[in-house]
Amino acid sequence: MKGIILAGGAGSRLYPLTLVASKQLQPVYDKPMVYFPLTTLLENGIHEICLISTPHDLPRFEQLLGDGKSWGVSIEYREQVKPAGIAQAFLIAETFIGADAVALILGDNIFYGGDGFQRAFGGFRSGAIVFGYHVHDPERYGVVEFDTQGRVVSIEEKPCRPKSNYAVPGLYLFDNQIVEITKALRPSARGELEITDVNLTYLQRGQLQVQLLGRGFAWLDAGTSSSLHDASAYVQTIERRQGVKIGCPEEAAFRQGFISLAEFEALAGRMPNCEYRTYLTSIVDELKRLPAAKHEESVK
Ligand code: DAU
Repeated sequence: MKGIILAGGAGSRLYPLTLVASKQLQPVYDKPMVYFPLTTLLENGIHEICLISTPHDLPRFEQLLGDGKSWGVSIEYREQVKPAGIAQAFLIAETFIGADAVALILGDNIFYGGDGFQRAFGGFRSGAIVFGYHVHDPERYGVVEFDTQGRVVSIEEKPCRPKSNYAVPGLYLFDNQIVEITKALRPSARGELEITDVNLTYLQRGQLQVQLLGRGFAWLDAGTSSSLHDASAYVQTIERRQGVKIGCPEEAAFRQGFISLAEFEALAGRMPNCEYRTYLTSIVDELKRLPAAKHEESVK
């Protein structure tokens, strides 16, 4: 499966922060926002990635992430000239997707905890998998409607009267029908190719699974100044308490086996003296103290 990170849009709700750097480049506590969705993809075994952003912002992302080689992955870049809808990502990335399945993640979605994604990625065969997450303000999202048997009957985009509290977060897994489905979509009343319409097509074909994410799972929104601040505070709290970092692509690449311990150590060694480097070095030191037989268990 390949991965797409959609990181365009105007970021107008974060103005004036977004005057010079796009939303997905803003710091969430100690890292640029885009590190979080990127890490989610890496943690789930995705190593071929395409990042889509505006012509204006794309060079910054390339500067930040490069071609991915030092993390043992490949990262390509594509432009979205105008924000014509989330589903447009599949048309822009058509040649990147080729004959594969694809995971799309929104560049401003931050996920942490639980094993819901691992199960979904690991068990994905065909059709589509999206997730359902209980929120108090479902009207801001795509919302899942269930029948009395708990079966999914519909998904509505930002409904005035939501039929459940289950919002669909910005991570979607699709098989290769995605390109053909997107090509047949018509823009919505707000002029966008809607991801919800893609999901509805899979639902009509009887090929949509909605997997609910449980209480032990955090889905953070970083689209407004307050929610960006909350996300930073959340990440800081977990990182300080546990001494582990959330959204650390180097660590995810190493634990997935995309890079060796020696490559991981070399990566850390090339960084300036900072907390981030100290963290990576501490992982290397911890592993070196472990007997060799235990290494494999920690590389997961
Ligand atoms: O966050 C999950 C929600 O994302 C879903 O529940 C909704 O079904 C889905 O429509 C979407 O809703 P949003 O209101 O959050 O979408 P928004 O237009 O804000 O776009 C989400 C991100 O994708 C944002 O960071 C900008 C980026 N984007 C969006 C569009 C429409 C692009 O890069 N290009 C685009 O054309």
